[in-house]
Amino acid sequence: MKRINSLLLLLCSISMLSFGQFKLPDLSYKYNALEPYIDSTTMHIHHDLHHATYVNNLNKTLEKYPELYKKDLLELIQNINELPTDIQLAVRNNGGGVWNHSFFWKIMAAPGTAPMSAAMTKLLTDNFGTVDAFKAEFEKAAVGRFGSGWAWLIKEPSGKLRIISTPNQDNPLMSSAEIKGKPILTLDVWEHAYYLKYQNKRAAYAKAFWNVVNWTEVERLTGN
Ligand SMILES: [Fe+2]
Repeated sequence: MKRINSLLLLLCSISMLSFGQFKLPDLSYKYNALEPYIDSTTMHIHHDLHHATYVNNLNKTLEKYPELYKKDLLELIQNINELPTDIQLAVRNNGGGVWNHSFFWKIMAAPGTAPMSAAMTKLLTDNFGTVDAFKAEFEKAAVGRFGSGWAWLIKEPSGKLRIISTPNQDNPLMSSAEIKGKPILTLDVWEHAYYLKYQNKRAAYAKAFWNVVNWTEVERLTGN
């Protein structure tokens, strides 16, 4: 009986440890897949350490309110103002960090493997005049973001595409966002995303980014 109780206690502890906690998603490509534009070492540090830290910190933040582990991450960050006030900022920073990085990995692909289609070219041309004008405006948003943050291409509720940037780990889905919309494309402009290879040349990193955009995924996101 004592043995069964110990076993039950062990199983219970394991299930409590793993219950609903947020996990670090794997990359869908190899760490060196984005070379030479984004190097393997940066990808290891960025995914295995920075992204993982946001996941761990989010889980730690929610320890006090374990019922929140049952929520979808998107639901959490879209309703930050409805969370207990003592964890709102930590969920904004760490929940945002988890969501933004998971999204960022998905909109990139090995160079040349997911080129821009004619339909996507037309969509960008319709919204920004030319693809080059779109790229220039996006790069400007990336370079112009003071300190750390993200550049975004979003789809507004009207269907129009728009370029914005957000500070820290904020994103256009959050209840606190000044401009809301569906994320279509993003670029992480925190120094940890580029400093090893590009040092202080954020503009060069933003320009190189076009070589690793997964336009197939970006186009898919423009739907609905
Ligand atoms: Fe990052």
